[in-house]
Amino acid sequence: MNASDPQLKDPVARRRTFAIISHPDAGKTTLTEKLLLFGGAIQLAGEVRAKANRRQTRSDWMGIERERGISVVTSVMTFEYGGCVYNLLDTPGHEDFSEDTYRTLTAVDSAIMVIDAAKGIEARTRKLFEVCRLRDIPIITFINKLDRETRDPFDLIDEIEKTLALDVAPMTWPLGSGRGFRGTFDLARNLVRQIDRDGEPVSVNGPDDPFIKNLLGETEFEIVREQIELARGGLKHFDRKAFLEGHLTPTFFGSALRNFGVRDLIDALRDFAPPPQGLETASRKVDAREDKMTGFVFKIQANMDPNHRDRIAFMRVCSGKLRRGMKAKLVRTGKNIALNAPQFFFAQDRQLAEEAYAGDVVGIPNHGTLRIGDTLTEGEDLIFRGVPSFAPEILRRVKISDAMKAKKLREALSQMGEEGVVQLFLPNDGSGAIVGVVGALQLDVLAERLEAEYGLGVSFEQSRFDSCRWIAASAAELDKFVRAHPSSMAVDLDGAPVFMAASAWDLKYEQDKWPEVIFSDIKDYQ
Ligand code: G4P
Repeated sequence: MNASDPQLKDPVARRRTFAIISHPDAGKTTLTEKLLLFGGAIQLAGEVRAKANRRQTRSDWMGIERERGISVVTSVMTFEYGGCVYNLLDTPGHEDFSEDTYRTLTAVDSAIMVIDAAKGIEARTRKLFEVCRLRDIPIITFINKLDRETRDPFDLIDEIEKTLALDVAPMTWPLGSGRGFRGTFDLARNLVRQIDRDGEPVSVNGPDDPFIKNLLGETEFEIVREQIELARGGLKHFDRKAFLEGHLTPTFFGSALRNFGVRDLIDALRDFAPPPQGLETASRKVDAREDKMTGFVFKIQANMDPNHRDRIAFMRVCSGKLRRGMKAKLVRTGKNIALNAPQFFFAQDRQLAEEAYAGDVVGIPNHGTLRIGDTLTEGEDLIFRGVPSFAPEILRRVKISDAMKAKKLREALSQMGEEGVVQLFLPNDGSGAIVGVVGALQLDVLAERLEAEYGLGVSFEQSRFDSCRWIAASAAELDKFVRAHPSSMAVDLDGAPVFMAASAWDLKYEQDKWPEVIFSDIKDYQ
């Protein structure tokens, strides 16, 4: 797309909503900073960093995050570059927050996968990739840290292809590595981009151009020339259709730390990545270009700004135009809510959103009206699919030090459940609420927030259950099952029936015994 391109006037066509997926330490934070620098969204690299002993930023608003030096919250950052509006949805890096990450990935149209060039595909990259694959999200790959010693590029490409079953089309090729890293060669366009040199790339005649020889020296030049010939002849070429279908990943080499290769990514997002896509609802597919505004909430965050004690629902606009002040129907309750103060987020700031289009993410301040998975429309009864909830792997009872505050605890837990901090299960036999989490760190976050926001001191104790499943069956069968298990049934926040199992064996036993009952470990929010 260039500046005179008519697409630039089309608000949907110029939007790119994406996330970065990676294993911790691969360079996601560094890359995020550099992307935002390109967009002029921040003045200084280092400002989005949420690490210990660093400048404090908006995104490390919580004590626990500061202490542990991890990024716990999911946030969104918007920037503009070259006529496009980029919405970068940040995902928490820590494994314990995978639920948040999964939900965030339901709100993007593409993703950048960052791989450490010395390490290759790591566990978490693979897991996140699998989530992207569920929706065939197109992926652009960035092989990072070329300024350090790396593995052989062919070896890395082979590993991506084999472990992810994904075709790799290298777009650039590294000219040297480690201390000898000089830049990259654009395989399709015969361009050389040099590290630590700003400005336009140098156009050369091919991989055997003397310019490259000068850059690399005789020995390295021979190696690289041969590599490029092999890559051009033997590896996949870029194919936009295969990319959009999620079968092929255009791959770039670079160094986020040295701000190298980052522009390739921005350009690739603009030129190849899809604009906002149509999304499925329970009844029909909603096209991004429909006139009427629709959107869904994929994240709730409380206390983003400790001075304001606010609660923000992050909504992806899926179609139409959101205008500040408009009324929208909250489909779950059938009631209208006024969107008086929708907000856009930048690295350091937020701003009232006067209007927003498909692909944009707006924060809607509210006092508990909005929940994860909620759909907002201009009147139609739609429910967007695919903001899932996962059966928790850890179940705990919450113990409160002051028994007089049991009612307050119940309210606070419901709030936390609605925000998606933890899942809440209320046993049918009236015994105390059980919280479920995917990772133990979520419990620490819960305890800290109950203390800080509600003045409730809590601890956790082992529950007699070890796993749980949402269950479904015909009304009669369900009733029979529930009656047969009076002390193992609970409901979640939406009142959906949940079977609590004492062990994996117990679960398996019941599954075998009740073939008409569906036991599910994923629930779509309704
Ligand atoms: P993450 O968000 O994916 O966890 O990774 P992050 O960007 O925090 O990067 C992890 C470490 O890798 C950081 O170093 C960072 O400086 C370094 N890094 C990122 N990109 C590159 C690169 O292109 N080249 C090199 N050589 N290093 C890179 P650290 O020592 O853990 O922290 P810091 O104190 O330097 O921030």
